[in-house]
Amino acid sequence: MTKKKRPAAGRRRAKHAGPTRSMLAAMSALAREARERAHAPYSRFKVGAALKTRTGEIVTGCNIENASYGLSMCAERVAVFKAVSEGLDDFDVIAVVADSKRITPPCGPCRQILWEYCGDVLVHMTDLKGRSRTLRLAELLPMPFDAGHL
Ligand code: THU
Repeated sequence: MTKKKRPAAGRRRAKHAGPTRSMLAAMSALAREARERAHAPYSRFKVGAALKTRTGEIVTGCNIENASYGLSMCAERVAVFKAVSEGLDDFDVIAVVADSKRITPPCGPCRQILWEYCGDVLVHMTDLKGRSRTLRLAELLPMPFDAGHL
């Protein structure tokens, strides 16, 4: 009897392969372009985001500030709200681009919003020098509060 050859440990392919490196790079490029459209005259801190559905649609966002500061909106939330309002769902990755010494992660409220509408997405964070970090949302938001608690 011939034994079926199994792939070496650690080389087994995941049932649902995640996004490729080139997909993440393409998403960061779109987030970077969106960042250029940021309206951030008060903080001068521009952020861009690109949110992807599993089927490949990509929606971008940038931060949009207001003279009444509290009304300002983060890039991630703009992307999520644009996408949800277009009827999209089943998201798998969000790319975030900002220019800071340390990689910029989504703020607390954005993590909560992402959890609600996107679940445990991959969060790919990049700076303008091309340094990046990729974490799951569940790592950025452990013990999330959601509809399951109501
Ligand atoms: N900001 C984002 O757009 N996303 C983040 O993840 C962090 C913060 C925006 C909000 C505000 O317009 C500016 O960055 C400074 O806080």
